[in-house]
Amino acid sequence: MTLLKNHNLFFTVTIIALALFAGCKNDPYSYKIKGSKIVYNTPARPSNQQSMLGFACDPIENVRVGFVGLGMRGPDALRRFAHIDGATIAALCDLIPERVEKAQGILERRNIPRAAEYSGEDGWMELCRREDIDLVYLSVPWQYHTKMAVYAMEHGKHVAIEVPAATSIAECWELVNTSERTRKHCMMLENCCYDYYELTCLNMAQQGLFGEIVHAEGGYCHNLEPYWDRYQGDWRMDYNKEHRGDVTSTLIRTRKGKTILIEHSTMTPRPYSRMYQLVGTKGIADKYPHKGIAVGLKLDTNIGIEELDAEKFCTEEEYLLLMEQYQHPITSTGGLAEKAKQVGGHGGMDFIMDYRLIYCLNNGLPLDQDVYDAAEWSSLVELTEVSIKHGSMPVVMPDFTRGEWDKIQGLQFAE
Ligand SMILES: NC(=O)c1ccc[n+]([C@@H]2O[C@H](COP(=O)([O-])OP(=O)(O)OC[C@H]3O[C@@H](n4cnc5c(N)ncnc54)[C@H](O)[C@@H]3O)[C@@H](O)[C@H]2O)c1
Repeated sequence: MTLLKNHNLFFTVTIIALALFAGCKNDPYSYKIKGSKIVYNTPARPSNQQSMLGFACDPIENVRVGFVGLGMRGPDALRRFAHIDGATIAALCDLIPERVEKAQGILERRNIPRAAEYSGEDGWMELCRREDIDLVYLSVPWQYHTKMAVYAMEHGKHVAIEVPAATSIAECWELVNTSERTRKHCMMLENCCYDYYELTCLNMAQQGLFGEIVHAEGGYCHNLEPYWDRYQGDWRMDYNKEHRGDVTSTLIRTRKGKTILIEHSTMTPRPYSRMYQLVGTKGIADKYPHKGIAVGLKLDTNIGIEELDAEKFCTEEEYLLLMEQYQHPITSTGGLAEKAKQVGGHGGMDFIMDYRLIYCLNNGLPLDQDVYDAAEWSSLVELTEVSIKHGSMPVVMPDFTRGEWDKIQGLQFAE
């Protein structure tokens, strides 16, 4: 998915196995079956809205952040933000007051002043209404993501939402429309885009090492058995039971004829895998279960020039040379990679994501991921389920950019 930013997800989706995902009850953005395809309506942009492509707000010297959701995931964000200059942890909120108090302890241990605190079912609304908050950071159960994000944007806040940002096509449009109308950023916190290996391979791909990319694979295959009892109110298992279970495979064909395979599996015992494969006309990158690069080129090693063979994975020495040579500029600049490894968060990628979010807001730059990415990536939730309902029929995805999907060429990290 990393490579496929900038709205190439405007294509036909074919679902080839079982599904996890959500339904579209009362969805005003409904679909029709045309010929052998499911086609979603793309509603015209209301006249009081403008595109958010390339949007940048005025620089915010100190980003005051309100965190909502302090279960398993939320407190990790606090620990990371404690290491980010240019941001202040301004407010904390959770349904359960004891979780807020526990999170205050994280701040106290780092000599950070206690933050304003909110709890109960509606405490998050009060947090969003505060005048002294710039960004609301949501780590709550999925059913709250869009509702809270929309409310926060309507109260003048930028939002960062855990994955997925939305669980239906109607919610995806709500995010897009609200962001366009309020001129507030809406970013989905897709951390896996920021792992060192993925960023380095992205750089390799953008510099043409793999030739033309023709296929990509990604996924979330993680046995959540040890965690099921810890989700507050069992929200995640309830969601799975209400919709579909393991395993989901989604096959996508883009407008430009590329293919993408995406898998989701959280209930079967198996080694963790995000799959991750890039297939180009000159070579490939693989990550799970084997991390390796196979590419045909001449490489200057310490024993002379080596001729690499695209049909064999590089040796350890060749691999390390390539990783160093192609390290992504955002991780090599200012020692970010080293700092991220120290702070941690899935090995550092979570820190790089948060750092980039705050860096862009501090400097008034477009964010790495925009509201259209959030909508496109999250839209697979409903599209997958609808496809399965219709015997795995192909679905034409809605174009959340409303015709501007190829306006920005390639993934860019603003500097
Ligand atoms: N990107 C990643 O690597 C990653 C990893 C883990 C979780 N997540 C995401 O983070 C989100 C949270 O997951 P989790 O594992 O922390 O779940 P969790 O159940 O442990 O935490 C959710 C928290 O939200 C709180 N909450 C519920 N309703 C609320 C309300 N009305 N107001 C305020 N707080 C409320 C709960 O009390 C709980 O503390 C999910 O979207 C999940 O998909 C992402």
